[in-house]
Amino acid sequence: MADSRTAAAASAGATPLIRVEGLHKSFGDLEVLKGIDLTVLPGEVVTMIGASGSGKSTLLRCLNLLERPDRGQVWFRDQDLTADRCDVNALREHIGMVFQGFNLFNNMDVLDNCTLAPVTLKKMSKAEAEQVALGHLSSVGLEEFAHANVSRLSGGQKQRVAIARALCMNPEIMLFDEPTSALDPEIVGEVLEVMRGLADDGMTMVVVTHEMDFARTVSDRVVFMDQGVICEEGDPEKIFGAPEHERTREFLARYLED
Ligand SMILES: Nc1ncnc2c1ncn2[C@@H]1O[C@H](COP(=O)(O)OP(=O)(O)O)[C@@H](O)[C@H]1O
Ligand SMILES: [Mg+2]
Repeated sequence: MADSRTAAAASAGATPLIRVEGLHKSFGDLEVLKGIDLTVLPGEVVTMIGASGSGKSTLLRCLNLLERPDRGQVWFRDQDLTADRCDVNALREHIGMVFQGFNLFNNMDVLDNCTLAPVTLKKMSKAEAEQVALGHLSSVGLEEFAHANVSRLSGGQKQRVAIARALCMNPEIMLFDEPTSALDPEIVGEVLEVMRGLADDGMTMVVVTHEMDFARTVSDRVVFMDQGVICEEGDPEKIFGAPEHERTREFLARYLED
């Protein structure tokens, strides 16, 4: 199904949702991204795998300008994000992001976490925002927790709230940065299940993950990053079944040993 979705988008000559060309980013003397080219089509699920420190988070953060690229271009549809006139706040309304550490407001209840951005940024009425939020909370299985304080929730519940909160902005694409890495192993599954559902619904997603089974079974395309470059990318059958590069083979061998 994933394949047919990509094929359909490609054959329709779909305009990429995200296009990255020649992206470079350094922190001081450390060059973290060394010329990245990447395209994400509407409806595509792209997973990014690679060792810690290879630049996955930095790349993801350049897609919504949480980091400013030093060189190269990032386009969201036809909007050049590196242009001075780019309106960062308007851009971020279209791009949902879910972090490893949830980034929820712990002193607020679940519903208020979900309605804050739609009310303040999109000027939605509180009543409408709550109605939208309850719909998304229901889709992640947490409607009954709408009035619970976030601090009372488990890690898996917090991450599902974070996903629902991002969806409340009606984003065109969702970026996930190791959304299950902070979770106890037994609750990873409930979050992956929600993400799998989103993918099935056709959401465009870029997911940094160490969950190889998720990458293998949900992605349309897997991107292997190594030391600041995309070493290899392709459909999951190729990357997991017949990787071309020695570095990819080494990385996967290490993972499959664990
Ligand atoms: N804000 C920052 N300041 C300085 N160094 C950073 C910053 N963010 C990331 N780095 C460094 O950049 C490299 C790549 O980091 P990152 O993109 O987080 O990799 P990954 O997500 O693949 O683990 C690491 O060496 C990291 O320490
Ligand atoms: Mg990271």
